[in-house]
Order: sequence, then structure tokens, then C-alpha cells
Amino acid sequence: MTTQPKTIEQVKRSRLDPEPIPRRDFLGLAALWSAASTLLFATVGMLRLPKAAVLPSPSKKFRVVLPESLALHQPFIPPGRSVGLFKAETGVYAVSIVCTHLGCIVKSSASGFDCPCHGSRFSQDGSVLRGPAPKALPRLAVNRMCDHEFIVDEGEIIEASEAMA
Ligand code: FES
Repeated sequence: MTTQPKTIEQVKRSRLDPEPIPRRDFLGLAALWSAASTLLFATVGMLRLPKAAVLPSPSKKFRVVLPESLALHQPFIPPGRSVGLFKAETGVYAVSIVCTHLGCIVKSSASGFDCPCHGSRFSQDGSVLRGPAPKALPRLAVNRMCDHEFIVDEGEIIEASEAMA
């Protein structure tokens, strides 16, 4: 089968009135443009998102100066920390004040600590007086620097027997 050469009239007409794009090709192009524009908008949107403001976590070790007037077995809670420090006859010890039930910060009370969340009570040495807390408040590492100055490590839990500084 041979194709007949187009006449000049046919060529002129095809330039002025191009053949329509087949429906399938048109839909394919539309889908491609839609996907490309979605990707472009998503990329621009992600670039405009604010950067995460990740603050460095404060060190678990900190220095604390106990007030000279602190009475025996009276808690001293350094501001911004979850630690209670106590003077005892044989030295100073530190107790975490994070409740061992679900992690609320316990409040100092006459008998030791009370948890405001579910009512657990702890003695001054951290022992459980009333549940639902399953275990005692942990003792934390504390080292004496000089008379009233101590270094406490909130990240280091130690046995009660070795807890005095
Ligand atoms: S968190 Fe303290 S009693 Fe539940």
C-alpha cells in the first residue's frame, strides 16, 4: 500500500487545524501534569515548614548548695529539678521525686511525699507508705564537694546503703 503525497492544500490545512490529541493520550498527559504539580507543591510546602526546635536536654548532673538552715529530714528541692535532698545524721542523700506509679512529680508533705495524681504516699527516705506506687522512690547519686555544696546525678540510681554523701 502506497501513501499518496499530500497536496499543498492538505498540508496548509493540517498546519492550521492540527489533528486532535487522542483521548487516551490527553488523559495520560493530564495525569502526568497532575502528579508533577502535586510533587512540586508538596516539596515547596515541606521546604516552608518550620525547622524543629530541638533544645539540648539539660545535664542530669548538677551542682546544688544546701541552705545552712536546712533541718534534718526536711526536703530541699532544687528549682527545676526532680530531686529531693535531705540532711540526715550521717550525711546527705538524694531521692527522685518522680512517682514510681505513672511518673507524676510528688509533693513534699509532713510524712514525706504525696503524689497528687493517684494518692501514693512516700516516706522521707522514699519508701512506699501507700499505693498504688509499686516501689520506692529511687535514691540518686550525690557527691559532696565541700561543706554545703553537692553534685547530684539524676541519671544515676544507687542502692540506699551507699546513698550518703
Ligand atoms: S502517678 Fe503517683 S500515684 Fe499515680
